[in-house]
Amino acid sequence: MKGLILSGGRGTRLRPITFTSAKQLIPVANKPILFYGIEALVESGIREIGIVVGDTGQEIKDAVGDGSQFGAAVTYIEQPAPLGLAHAVLISEAFISGEPFVMYLGDNLIRERLAPLVETFRAAAPNAQILLARVPNPQQFGVAELAGGRVVRLVEKPKKPASDLALVGVYMFDRDVFDAVSAISPSARGELEITDAIQWLIDHGRTVIPHVIDGWWKDTGKLEDLLEANRIILDTIGRRIEGEVEGSEVLGKVVIEVGAKVVQSTVRGPAVIGKGAMIENAYIGPFTAVGDHAIIRSSEVEHSIILEGSTITDIGGRIESSLIGRNVSIYRSTTKPKSYNLMLGDRSQVGLP
Ligand code: TTP
Repeated sequence: MKGLILSGGRGTRLRPITFTSAKQLIPVANKPILFYGIEALVESGIREIGIVVGDTGQEIKDAVGDGSQFGAAVTYIEQPAPLGLAHAVLISEAFISGEPFVMYLGDNLIRERLAPLVETFRAAAPNAQILLARVPNPQQFGVAELAGGRVVRLVEKPKKPASDLALVGVYMFDRDVFDAVSAISPSARGELEITDAIQWLIDHGRTVIPHVIDGWWKDTGKLEDLLEANRIILDTIGRRIEGEVEGSEVLGKVVIEVGAKVVQSTVRGPAVIGKGAMIENAYIGPFTAVGDHAIIRSSEVEHSIILEGSTITDIGGRIESSLIGRNVSIYRSTTKPKSYNLMLGDRSQVGLP
């Protein structure tokens, strides 16, 4: 069994962060989202992993390397343009070379272990097994209709959903999926859709079985879900203090990495403070991940992800539910006239009180 992780795409919903870097490398609890997927595949016994990459390929290669840090052997598959999930499968045929495989969307996180699912897939040997989750708002997802223990129909964002079972970003296929992805045509948005490929399998008498997952699943493709994933993962961490703490209160599940300093501050967990970060005269509230070498001084931050190297100083109000990119600087300006001085990239979002 092989693994195929899709790590190309446009990432339009996370602009401006994705103008300069891969969304799959945005850290959740200070670890790139993509790493959770690689680890899940390795934990299920899969060692040979193909990663489909696009414009941000170099950054992904720099972070993942040959996969040995995960105990995997990684092969990169270049997708010339983000032409759809089924297109990513199509161009991976040589790498997959006829073996069954798990396809994992590089910006997704699921709690359930994959090993038992991989086992079921091996034992039952259907043509495809798709993971489904019950959601309150199926209108916003690809939705599956089941009958007799099989998937009989998939509908993308249905107005009148036949079930509340949404497609999760993890799929298992045998070689027949290559017949499907070669046969289908691009959708109205110009992409080869994986839902169309699976529907093709169903329509051509292949067996597609469902597995409804236990526990949470997050597609981190947009800010709200990314912060929610950060909240969920931080909640599972333990307490580990390896940095220095001086005259501060550090409460609950908090990780302070080596070389970080917390001075005259309150850190209320769950929270992580990255290597070499500096927290001074500040309040770090629950569900906050502060990246390596970030500096937070005389400011309050809660329920947010601050990437490495950013500096936040002397902010009057509290920063909440925010994603701050790398090497960003937010500070109180003392120049007159009193005004907001901004230098923001395209599509930045600033919410002022
Ligand atoms: P999506 O989140 O569906 O697409 P996207 O990354 O283009 O994002 P947006 O909708 O915000 O513009 O993609 C799911 C995963 O699959 C993600 O990790 C990117 C990856 N992907 C590819 O590798 N190739 C593709 O052609 C597409 C569409 C996505």
